[in-house]
Amino acid sequence: MSILFSSKSIGKLELPNRIIRAASHEGLADERGRPTEQQFRFYEGFVNGGVGLIITGYAGVMKEGKSALRNMTMIDSDDLIPSHRQLVDRIHNIGGRIILQIAHCGRQTWSGETGMPLVAPSAIQCNFYRELPEKIKEEEIFEVIKNFGKAAYRAREAGYDGIEIHGAHGYLLSTFLSRHANKREDQWGGSHKNRFRIVGEILKKVKQETEKDFPVFLKLNTYERARLGIKEKDCLQFAKMAEETSSCDALELSCGTNEGGFIMARGEFPTKGIITYLRPFCEFNRPMKHLVRCIVAPLAKIIQPPFTEGYNLKTAQKVKQSVSIPVITLGGMRSKKIMEEAVESDKTDFVSMARPLIQEPDLPNKFRMGKSEKALCNNCNICVVAADTQPIQCYSKSTIF
Ligand SMILES: Cc1cc2nc3c(=O)[nH]c(=O)nc-3n(C[C@H](O)[C@H](O)[C@H](O)COP(=O)(O)O)c2cc1C
Repeated sequence: MSILFSSKSIGKLELPNRIIRAASHEGLADERGRPTEQQFRFYEGFVNGGVGLIITGYAGVMKEGKSALRNMTMIDSDDLIPSHRQLVDRIHNIGGRIILQIAHCGRQTWSGETGMPLVAPSAIQCNFYRELPEKIKEEEIFEVIKNFGKAAYRAREAGYDGIEIHGAHGYLLSTFLSRHANKREDQWGGSHKNRFRIVGEILKKVKQETEKDFPVFLKLNTYERARLGIKEKDCLQFAKMAEETSSCDALELSCGTNEGGFIMARGEFPTKGIITYLRPFCEFNRPMKHLVRCIVAPLAKIIQPPFTEGYNLKTAQKVKQSVSIPVITLGGMRSKKIMEEAVESDKTDFVSMARPLIQEPDLPNKFRMGKSEKALCNNCNICVVAADTQPIQCYSKSTIF
């Protein structure tokens, strides 16, 4: 039997195999951020398809950190617990496991969406959202820590098998970790220890608000495209610091930020998707389309690193060698053989996938039964662009885009 289908535990959570569904924003919650019937069915598909664990799309811990993407799931109030419990029960009833990813979007959102000024470690705008955030005050940092704790408490009350703290992709916590976005000179900026402080405090708070054995994962960037952005050596330090808190049960490794373009996902520059997305904001006449197709897209191709399978694996392996908690590697996992080899040779304990499972939620079963050797996903990235306005699905053959 393939090692991908051997069980392994993360803390007290026993997983039947090594394939995890990585967090991907669903855009399926209702106007208050409650999980809906559509979301229940969407997640049931992964259990029926054989994934070992579902990590949900990001859920907001407070209104100030709400996503600008369509219909974010929220976990910022106790009255949301029953709807989350319904989702968890549906997954548990069919034998699945599910953990909730919790996040604060920081400067990667719009105040029009949150109804409040954006906050970030320093008053530096994200060049994708292009809205100047306020430098978060110390008392507000403590408020954020408290809210992550409360969100974890609610997740446990709802019955989730654990939580994942989103410390990657340019959201609030990852901006604290990055010298590119964090220019603070107080105890929350400067050295690695100071930049990690908010994450460390959240990890500890989350354990206090739940139980010592409630599984807590942390998602980190292996690298960001910015001169002072996170690099492999920073990732290694933060991974060790996370382990040293004794409050982190697993690390998931990804990369990139919104302003860094498509390095998080890599693959195609979704020209058609971007044109469709921008249509409501500007008149797309022929010369404009031509500009995107002939100049922006080829330029993006030159600038962005090429898609290679398992593009975070090299760093993940180094992290795996330096910590003893389980490591989950994400990013470009496509071939069964590469995933098997990665687990077999101890480069990673688990692999996780986002785009391939949007297209084929039953990919793990296909691998197990020998019906597929490689995901069908061609990294067209239309799902990434569509997430702003459309519910999650594979749009590679859609006529909308
Ligand atoms: C539609 C879509 C939504 C995503 N939403 C999230 C999210 O909510 N939280 C998160 O940590 N990552 C999110 N991601 C990033 C993925 O978890 C992952 O890092 C990225 O897609 C690369 O992995 P892949 O090659 O398996 O797709 C999203 C990706 C996609 C395609």
